[in-house]
Amino acid sequence: MIILSREDGIFDQGLIEALKNAKKVAVLTGAGISAESGVPTFRGEGGMWKQYRPEELATFEAFSRDPNLVWEWYSWRKKLIAEVSPNPGHHALVQLEKYYQDFTLVTQNVDNLHREAGSNNILELHGSIRRNFCLDCAKNYEDSDLTLGSEVNSCDCGGLIRPAVVWFGESLPQGVMEASFQKAEECEVFFSIGTSAVVYPAAMLPVQAKRAGALLIEINPQETMLTTSADHFLQGASGEILPELIREMGI
Ligand code: OAD
Repeated sequence: MIILSREDGIFDQGLIEALKNAKKVAVLTGAGISAESGVPTFRGEGGMWKQYRPEELATFEAFSRDPNLVWEWYSWRKKLIAEVSPNPGHHALVQLEKYYQDFTLVTQNVDNLHREAGSNNILELHGSIRRNFCLDCAKNYEDSDLTLGSEVNSCDCGGLIRPAVVWFGESLPQGVMEASFQKAEECEVFFSIGTSAVVYPAAMLPVQAKRAGALLIEINPQETMLTTSADHFLQGASGEILPELIREMGI
């Protein structure tokens, strides 16, 4: 059964008390938290680029087969992301970080908006779209060193330059995954915000947190695979719900 813990803008008071008293909190964010900044989500309406699905482009095989196409997609996203700013949802998470003794923000997003908003303790599960490196010699490149367009860039060594994001089928950055699972297991409250919770291993984090005894709170306008497991489902846009929530907590 799905329990709505905020109706007509009024939160469940048990939830607010639990949030005020918690000491260890972990959060998982997905593309939905950046939707109100103007970054398109991956799935659902507006989640497509030309006729491609992200799963067809965000792979090493796709880059090997057609590096120009994959680079063009990333160039489009890089330009889009360079023009957007954090929204009230990102800013509310900065306030939560200041409030709690132990607060970890795990994000699947590569857009750097949490850092721009001022969050510090961030675990980037899928890398960052702002960084790039050479496939052959691993030299790092900033976007400003490269041409963003329909042709892939080459390194001084001749190797192809790719974005420093994790593609489907690739391992998550060493240490980041372990740290994320450890925080999920230790926390008293776990938030899953703006993610469809279908991409693993990130989608295991809320499940693992709940198994280990955490209160599981989901914020999303739509129900997801996770919703029936959530203790509190706050239905709506994170840019509205999170600021309301911290106001209600007296932060
Ligand atoms: P998805 O595009 O799968 O899901 C976005 C979620 O955000 C959906 O559940 C929406 O309902 C929700 N949403 C939309 N607007 C929202 C809003 N204003 N506030 C809150 N939620 C909102 O994105 P992810 O779950 O992040 O991986 O996708 C996971 C991974 O799949 C991505 O990191 C990426 C992608 O392919 C890689 O590239 C490896």
